[in-house]
Amino acid sequence: MVRVKLVNVTKRFGEVVAVNKVNFEVKEGELFTLLGPSGCGKTTTLRLIAGFYKPDEGEIYFDDELMNDIPPHKRNTGMVFQNYALWPHMNVFENVAYGLKLRNMPPPKVIKKVKAALELVGLKGKAQRIPSQLSGGEQQRVALARALVIEPRVLLLDEPLSNLDAKLRLRVRNEIRKLQKKLGITTIYVTHDQEEALSISDRIAVMNQGRILQIGTPEEIYIFPKDLFVADFIGITNFIPCTIVSYDESKKEAVVKLGNMQLKVPSVYNKVDAGEEALLAVRPENIKIHKLEEAPKPYLEGKIDLVTFLGRVIRYEVIYDNYTLKVEAPRTDMRSIKEGEKVALTIDPLAVRVFKANKK
Ligand SMILES: Nc1ncnc2c1ncn2[C@@H]1O[C@H](COP(=O)(O)OP(=O)(O)O)[C@@H](O)[C@H]1O
Ligand SMILES: [Mg+2]
Repeated sequence: MVRVKLVNVTKRFGEVVAVNKVNFEVKEGELFTLLGPSGCGKTTTLRLIAGFYKPDEGEIYFDDELMNDIPPHKRNTGMVFQNYALWPHMNVFENVAYGLKLRNMPPPKVIKKVKAALELVGLKGKAQRIPSQLSGGEQQRVALARALVIEPRVLLLDEPLSNLDAKLRLRVRNEIRKLQKKLGITTIYVTHDQEEALSISDRIAVMNQGRILQIGTPEEIYIFPKDLFVADFIGITNFIPCTIVSYDESKKEAVVKLGNMQLKVPSVYNKVDAGEEALLAVRPENIKIHKLEEAPKPYLEGKIDLVTFLGRVIRYEVIYDNYTLKVEAPRTDMRSIKEGEKVALTIDPLAVRVFKANKK
């Protein structure tokens, strides 16, 4: 297994800077995800690692070995493409065997390896079918078997689930994760789907416009977004205007005021000044709704605009001062709160972030 390191990697296409001074290090056996909206440079980054593109600037290392001038076939990466890119006229066996034959492996060994790979991905007995005789999920497994059969040093997966329906996506996602852990293979996974990234990754790099904005575990990215874009992109976040009362840079702690409520907020990473207008970011699960007569003070007064039953949780849209806030409560917490009712909202100060307002 190998460590993959990118140092200040930049790739341009004419005027477009597809990948802009990107730095990260993927540990041995880690599943590392590049997450970001379409066009942010994820595929380009993967192709740079595979060797299909050369960086304009920066270095790519596998362990301590510089890869910049090593051609793709000598890097020994296994790639699964978004559209699978299977050979339509070859059967499953031939598709998976292709890379081994290119490496001039003797036929008996090829047969043994392909059989093992097909068994690994649960495709035993389908070796003679051609791709059009397979379901989307099965084609995806063929692509995975083809990437794994060469025993790659690094597995590269480019939106591998995007052509599957929602249920299958969930199942295959779990299968990929289990397989990756079992094989202990260093894996770089690309997706634009934040939920997929949170659920499958050891660590995530959030990208936008060719740059990496934050790298962290799923928990860190979700709970401590360091950037407004990250807070907005991952999960659902309410942004409420507030005023900075004070800021203690040494503690990274701010006191903010919204309505008649003051909150002491930890983990404020961007410097803010007293008197400045800022944005308070808070997740739906960190706002509590109370009946007005039962509310602990201080609170914000809001009006319930919409109640949506989602099974496990109830989602409320609450109008507060011209803003529509999304609030979630477990179903077990369901009280008779009705649309049109005036309610009190309290916010858990430990669960909010504060960002400079001008960045949005
Ligand atoms: N071969 C190419 N030629 C010109 N521009 C490209 C090429 N590949 C990607 N780009 C541009 O680079 C940017 C990043 O693309 P890409 O890496 O495919 O993003 P993602 O995979 O995150 O959707 C986009 O603006 C895209 O239009
Ligand atoms: Mg892409």
